[in-house]
Amino acid sequence: VTENADASRIRLGMVGGGAGAFIGVVHRIAARLDDHYELVAGALSSDAERAALSGRQLRLAPDRIYSDFTQMAAEEKSRPDGIQAVTIATPNNLHYPVACAFIEAGIHVICDKPLACSLEEAVDLGRRAKEAGVVFVVTYNNTGYPMVREAREIVASGRIGTIRSVQIEYAQDWLTELLEASGHKQALWREDPAQVGPGACAGDIGTHAFNLMTYVTGLRLNSVMAEVSTFVPGRKMDDEINVLLNFDGGARGSLWASQVAPGNENGLRLRVYGSLGGIEWDGEKPNHLRLAEYGKPPVELTRGGFGISGAANRVTRMPAGLPEGYLECFANVYFDTAELIRAKLRRRDPDPAAVLLPQVTEGIEAVRFVDAVIESGKSRAWVTTNI
Ligand SMILES: NC(=O)c1ccc[n+]([C@@H]2O[C@H](COP(=O)([O-])OP(=O)(O)OC[C@H]3O[C@@H](n4cnc5c(N)ncnc54)[C@H](O)[C@@H]3O)[C@@H](O)[C@H]2O)c1
Repeated sequence: VTENADASRIRLGMVGGGAGAFIGVVHRIAARLDDHYELVAGALSSDAERAALSGRQLRLAPDRIYSDFTQMAAEEKSRPDGIQAVTIATPNNLHYPVACAFIEAGIHVICDKPLACSLEEAVDLGRRAKEAGVVFVVTYNNTGYPMVREAREIVASGRIGTIRSVQIEYAQDWLTELLEASGHKQALWREDPAQVGPGACAGDIGTHAFNLMTYVTGLRLNSVMAEVSTFVPGRKMDDEINVLLNFDGGARGSLWASQVAPGNENGLRLRVYGSLGGIEWDGEKPNHLRLAEYGKPPVELTRGGFGISGAANRVTRMPAGLPEGYLECFANVYFDTAELIRAKLRRRDPDPAAVLLPQVTEGIEAVRFVDAVIESGKSRAWVTTNI
């Protein structure tokens, strides 16, 4: 990762991510890895006592530990040393109101996925962010893996020809039983329509798969035909989706996302085939990428190894053979976000490489994908996505 010459750290706040939460700590580690941010404020939990305890554990100043994100946005806005960016790591239904509060305060937003629970809210966030002129990144973190960036470069270079087929799967098994009935916190809200909108598995991991395949291929999805299933008795929402994909330009594909596939921990796998060759990437072995140019022996490219592009090397920390993983890919998203924020603060153009990051537009597209999948599941017909 190249050095950024700016001396001051970006003052960061966080909403959600209190003690016992899953992804907030990943954001905090990611933000620190390149030392571009300093966490100085937080409304870290829905529970006031837990918010206070979590703030103390993170050594936040007492007057910057909030129990309410609206108050946090207002007070931080009025401080001379107020936060410049906020991370939103709450359940999905809060992304919209929290993002609105901080955009209103002119604070840059780093929001976890999916962007919102409805297309209406997602589009409204896009409008608000644009009007306020704030950076708005959506943490589709897989785009931060060097070998995913390499895959994107290979496709863009034309090395595998015209894309014909995109096959993506995201298979997990942690919801194989009715985990939400046991009170498991993360499972509870993920299967509650009031907290996630129309799609559960579709929104939680289906959108990761959607974002990854469109990021790598650069293709526009124009319609989907979906089966939306709820296999576990007693579950309120979908736990698996099977989707046929129709892209502009003639490419076809399929997307399988499941949270009830025993034996799969976090099985995200992308395969892209074109007229001249194919690539395959496995999210559980993210330091590698298989490239098969038709008529030649396939090769396994390695992060930091021979023949890797500048786009991937730019976000590579360790030499080949020393593994990088989930935390580093998240950190790469934070690294590029720092560049976007600093460019805004300095009124200069950002490094074009950082602009490739998933932002509010990609967040909106992913919410539209969920809508189309759910609609197709109900109507049992092809549904236009216009993505
Ligand atoms: N990018 C990824 O790979 C990835 C992975 C996991 C989760 N996520 C996303 O991150 C978000 C959080 O997921 P999680 O698994 O960490 O959930 P979680 O339930 O573990 O944590 C949610 C946190 O939000 C807090 N919260 C709830 N209401 C709040 C409020 N009003 N004010 C302040 N804090 C509040 C909770 O107290 C908790 O600390 C979700 O949108 C999820 O989709 C993304």
